[in-house]
Amino acid sequence: MTYVCIEVLLVVALLSFSQAIFKKHFKENPYFRNKLFEHTTQYFAESVSMCSSHCGQCCECFGFNVINKTCRVPVSCDPGVISGQEDGWIYFTEHVTDELKTCSDLYTAGYCASGFYTIYPWDKEEPHYRPVEVYCDMKTNDGGWTAIQKRIAGSVDFNRIWDEYKIGFGIPQEGYWIGNDAIYQLTKDRNLTLYLSITLMNNTRLYQIYESFSIADETNQYRLHLGGETHGTLGDSLVDTANTGKANRNLPGMAFSTPDRDNDPSSSFNCALSFKGGWWFNRCYLAFLNGRWAPNVWQTPWYPTVMTESEVKETRMMIR
Ligand SMILES: *[C@@H]1O[C@H](CO)[C@@H](O)[C@H](O)[C@H]1NC(C)=O
Ligand SMILES: *[C@@H]1O[C@H](CO)[C@@H](O)[C@H](O)[C@H]1NC(C)=O
Ligand SMILES: *[C@@H]1O[C@H](CO)[C@@H](O)[C@H](O)[C@H]1NC(C)=O
Repeated sequence: MTYVCIEVLLVVALLSFSQAIFKKHFKENPYFRNKLFEHTTQYFAESVSMCSSHCGQCCECFGFNVINKTCRVPVSCDPGVISGQEDGWIYFTEHVTDELKTCSDLYTAGYCASGFYTIYPWDKEEPHYRPVEVYCDMKTNDGGWTAIQKRIAGSVDFNRIWDEYKIGFGIPQEGYWIGNDAIYQLTKDRNLTLYLSITLMNNTRLYQIYESFSIADETNQYRLHLGGETHGTLGDSLVDTANTGKANRNLPGMAFSTPDRDNDPSSSFNCALSFKGGWWFNRCYLAFLNGRWAPNVWQTPWYPTVMTESEVKETRMMIR
């Protein structure tokens, strides 16, 4: 038999609420050929494109049986839920072809699965223009979050110099900093919401949300604007640190510092050099998510809620 190898453009009109129309691309996924998934819904469909229309806005994949024109939409397209093998099935998985700026734009376009995506924060004409691979959280609080920082178990070192924090570093799947130029680009026209979290060793995720976040450009040392409403389970240890009973170490208004670029307000102490990471240090901090993942080096990731690095399994900083 010959395999259909086409790219389907799925156009679904959502007539019920918003009248919005979105377009989403799917591509044949050879790895899924003739596989069966757990928990599928079955439809008759004359063609692949008719099958795609059963898939819905947040659809990640669908299968089409070319022998008897049956369409199946799995609840999950995770390879972990493949349950068997049967002849005749070809599968299509979502495939981003548009150059979208943020995870929020991807979410709006119908890409609703959390995972790694390529975004384009800059326009083609801009000198910094390039693709950036990031983690998009499409589930937390209605999704659409672009992770500017994500760390798992400390495999990527965050003790880096100015130029590395400027451009970004790391391995998306293991830990990365998106880059200060990219954060500036994403927040230069409007303040966004910042979501910070620490996942504890027992998988409890503690978080704090600040409704207004942006940073300045490099000539202004990526100075931090942070404020607005805040709520969460970590507690505020960034904006109004006097709340915690410690001396005032508020971060809003602070310049970014790295071990090789001391922009903190203390003339005699280099916070970034001592605490081994880049951050918007005051004198120095109560909460710091870029610490070097080692005992007695990364002290109090989030005072007073998370007191040592040994409690930390994952960190995230996400914007929307
Ligand atoms: C089409 O064929 C597949 C594979 O043999 C089978 O599982 C499925 O139930 C069939 N669909 C219909 C509508 O008979
Ligand atoms: C963000 O909010 C601050 C404080 O309200 C304001 O000074 C700043 O201009 C805002 N930034 C943008 C890009 O709107
Ligand atoms: C996880 O650990 C934290 C801190 O030790 C504790 O407060 C919380 O109750 C634990 N959660 C679960 C689900 O065990």
